[in-house]
Amino acid sequence: MNRSHLFILPMALAACTVFFNGCTKDKTPVPVEPCDPNKVYFQNDVFPIIASNCAKSGCHDAATQAEEINLSSYNGIMKIVKPGNPSGSDLMKVINTPTGEKAMPPAPNTPLSQTKKDMISKWISEGALNNYCSNDLANCTTDSVTYSGTISKIMISNNCLSCHSGATIKGGFDLSNYSGVQSAAASGKLYNAVLQNGSAVAMPPSPAPKISSCDSKKIKAWIDAGMKNN
Ligand code: HEC
Repeated sequence: MNRSHLFILPMALAACTVFFNGCTKDKTPVPVEPCDPNKVYFQNDVFPIIASNCAKSGCHDAATQAEEINLSSYNGIMKIVKPGNPSGSDLMKVINTPTGEKAMPPAPNTPLSQTKKDMISKWISEGALNNYCSNDLANCTTDSVTYSGTISKIMISNNCLSCHSGATIKGGFDLSNYSGVQSAAASGKLYNAVLQNGSAVAMPPSPAPKISSCDSKKIKAWIDAGMKNN
């Protein structure tokens, strides 16, 4: 291997790292199912605590960014977290400081409870991933799926009609009526689009959250039962 080859490898690695950080970290994570009761999940457990106690107006929300710290997103929070190292993370240091300028949230706000601190600490120990879990499938029943009672409502509740009805018919599919949904389903695109498996354009488009696994399962059950107009 000559010198120029030796140079290319670290450059390529650096480019990958930049690409990875820039493009994938803040994406809506795909839910892990079911939730492991022994694990802490960022989206379910940690983010709600930080959003309501730290990313507030006048503090660390995207608009204020006090001390240039924006805790309104995973990327922002990761600037004060060292994955795998709770005691080395500024986030843990400030929430564990009882009084004074460094104590967060500052008085007169109530300090975080020990349970919440432990939860954040455990999440950092577990690698501080942008993870998310759901127990949706465990309680998902597909026996009584119908077009009018189930599928049409999934289209509404997932906001599909904002781009697929009336004057806005994206991708050629009107999803506000049976024949439109049936043709999307019959083409194979409906199920592949909501599964976001790469065989159709992923729907709904990012950054809208992926539809729940239970809703995807109901769509599949309706398709498998012959896409009836029931
Ligand atoms: C923000 C607008 C928007 C929303 C919301 C939206 N779509 Fe789409 N949809 C599009 C656009 C744009 C296309 C065309 C994409 C292309 O061809 O590149 C499309 C295409 C599709 C296709 C065809 C995919 C393919 O591979 O040709 C299906 C099926 C679909 N959408 C279903 C849905 C469903 C189901 C929902 C709700 C869960 C939804 N869409 C929500 C904009 C939207």
